[in-house]
Amino acid sequence: MSSNITFTMIKPDAVADGHIGAILAKIAEAGFKLKAIKLTQLTKADAQKFYEVHAERPFYGELVDFMSSAPIVAAVLEKDNAVEDFRTLIGATNPADAAEGTIRKMFARSVGENAVHGSDSDENALIEANFHFSGREIF
Ligand code: RTP
Ligand code: MG
Repeated sequence: MSSNITFTMIKPDAVADGHIGAILAKIAEAGFKLKAIKLTQLTKADAQKFYEVHAERPFYGELVDFMSSAPIVAAVLEKDNAVEDFRTLIGATNPADAAEGTIRKMFARSVGENAVHGSDSDENALIEANFHFSGREIF
């Protein structure tokens, strides 16, 4: 797979708030191509594993419970400089600090329920894409 990919989840808050379509439109307008997409729900074990790097952080339990509480949209996106450009598009972790026009500014509820995930490196993008999708689900 190209290194110009990133992995995203539309988190349970944004799915429940009816923002799937609007968020996918923003992603497409920003020039990202969909390589994989599905509506799914993480088990608690999935969420624990996905966010393992945050296991020692005080918000880990809350994060795992939230991310496994309801359906998400998982997707693999392709674009030049995908990881960095996608993090610019989604904005700061805390929507209160996110720039105007970013996805988190527009759609997030709070720092914990912040609408979308974006990979933080090319290496993690590949790991995360392969965690959620089999080879035959990525185009
Ligand atoms: P993400 O991994 O979801 O794209 O978010 P991020 O890189 O901007 O933030 P990160 O530091 O990786 O944190 C992962 C997720 O944990 C939740 N969080 N809650 N209550 C809190 O203070 C707090 N801090 C982080 C958020 O859902 C964040 O996206
Ligand atoms: Mg992160």
